Amino acid sequence: MTALDLAGPVAVVGTGTMGQGIAQVALVAGHPVHLYDAVPGRASAAAEAIGARLDRLVEKGRLTGAERDAARARLRPAAGIADLADSGLVVEAVLERLDVKQQLMRELEDVVPSDCLLATNTSSLSVTAIGGALREPGRFLGLHFFNPAPLLPLVEVVSGFATDVTSATRAYELARAWGKTPVACADTPGFIVNRIARPFYAEAFAVHEAQAADPATIDAVLRESGGFRMGAFELTDLIGQDVNESVTRSVWEAFFQDVRFTPSLAQRRLVESGRHGRKSGHGWYDYGDGAERPEPHTAEKAQAPAYVVVEGDLGPAAELVALIREAGIQVREDEEDHGTRLVLPSGGQLALADGQTAVEFRDVVYFDLALDYRGATRIALSHSQDTQTQTLAEATGLFQALGKDVSVIGDVPGMIVARTVARIVDLAHDAVAKGVATEEDIDTAMRLGVNYPLGPFEWSRRLGRSWAYDVLDDLHMRDPSGRYAPSLALYRHAYASEKREGTP
Ligand SMILES: NC(=O)c1ccc[n+]([C@@H]2O[C@H](COP(=O)([O-])OP(=O)(O)OC[C@H]3O[C@@H](n4cnc5c(N)ncnc54)[C@H](O)[C@@H]3O)[C@@H](O)[C@H]2O)c1
Repeated sequence: MTALDLAGPVAVVGTGTMGQGIAQVALVAGHPVHLYDAVPGRASAAAEAIGARLDRLVEKGRLTGAERDAARARLRPAAGIADLADSGLVVEAVLERLDVKQQLMRELEDVVPSDCLLATNTSSLSVTAIGGALREPGRFLGLHFFNPAPLLPLVEVVSGFATDVTSATRAYELARAWGKTPVACADTPGFIVNRIARPFYAEAFAVHEAQAADPATIDAVLRESGGFRMGAFELTDLIGQDVNESVTRSVWEAFFQDVRFTPSLAQRRLVESGRHGRKSGHGWYDYGDGAERPEPHTAEKAQAPAYVVVEGDLGPAAELVALIREAGIQVREDEEDHGTRLVLPSGGQLALADGQTAVEFRDVVYFDLALDYRGATRIALSHSQDTQTQTLAEATGLFQALGKDVSVIGDVPGMIVARTVARIVDLAHDAVAKGVATEEDIDTAMRLGVNYPLGPFEWSRRLGRSWAYDVLDDLHMRDPSGRYAPSLALYRHAYASEKREGTP
């Protein structure tokens, strides 16, 4: 299958943020590029802006002066749709409204050649619905770029119900020829990234709404323990609370208000009050002159225990045993396998977050999941009023002796990282089962689209076959709203290999 010939002109319709970025990508790849915008003067202004960005690429040594001049000469602002008649591909990045996109596609279909690919950069509308306006929807598909398009490598190549395989393959190969990393996905709400990423925001907001921790502490735990590049509060302040919430709401609405995607009330209040994040000077945090970022909660120094007793297999936290030894703390192994926990000299227990709460046990401290316990610089702990002060002090001292800051949070099941990762893993399994994309493409999309340290399937393999299911099963028991109900796909993944005796 051939990608579009480089001589084939690419048209970009709608020359705002995304249109300019996509046009730059096609231009630098070598295509002649038509720019068209409904507002007179915008296409020319966009050509100027793209030209200025090419100048900066020359200054940075990424483009030669000659390449820049040739690219500029290939860039053509168009006066009307009729000027796009020789295009081999049209990508629209106009207003996010179904009627506007459908009307545009009808007009384009009358103008472009019959083998011209038609693509939408929509984030939240159905590709199938937009394509419904076309006489021949087989050549229509989604090419979902991420902002800023020239820098971010991921492109979701979305096939609507009517998209033919040849068109999807041509678009996929073209994105690859442009130096992008395409992933193939079906036309479902949020495609891959915006669907599977929802719990990253939702769980952080839920922990905050449960009064278990403040935004700065949750962000610090997600970064320093979870290995995420940014925490959910600082990231949504950067994206814009209005923009992030509107994606959440559109996915939730598109799934007929599926409780797994319920938006956050606290975020709604931010949006309603105009606290949209960095761009408005306030969001979860303040950004005015002299505003200081609040510090995460960090526990006072505590005495490390002289020894710990390891009972059973610590599963995803097994690496801790070696780290404790390296810190000079004696590790006693209990021959009898009572469970998966550490017992402290106080007699209290230290257990990995599993979807239960500390208050259900006599004397327990939970610690949160870390991407990698050696690299983590912070660990969250939770306890209940029944936990001895000494047990909490020993747990705190233990992690501090391993070089970690400790954040003590409220007694919420699944803590912060564990519940977030369990839900992301679940949505990823569910998406594969529903034919949205392959495991490999989902991992690629989440690493490149939202910078996750691991793809959900890589993470799941590391955590063990039934880990995410077991955490969600416990969470679901404690919050039976359905929000945490593990999918059938995750259940099958966790337990399908354990064939039961007898008849069904
Ligand atoms: N901004 C993002 O982060 C992002 C990321 C991925 C996808 N998207 C999607 O890309 C599309 C564009 O988003 P944006 O942020 O670039 O918007 P934008 O507001 O910056 O630009 C939209 C442009 O389209 C023009 N326009 C509107 N209706 C038109 C029409 N009928 N014909 C021609 N031009 C028209 C407007 O004049 C404007 O210049 C949307 O579908 C959006 O969902 C946005």
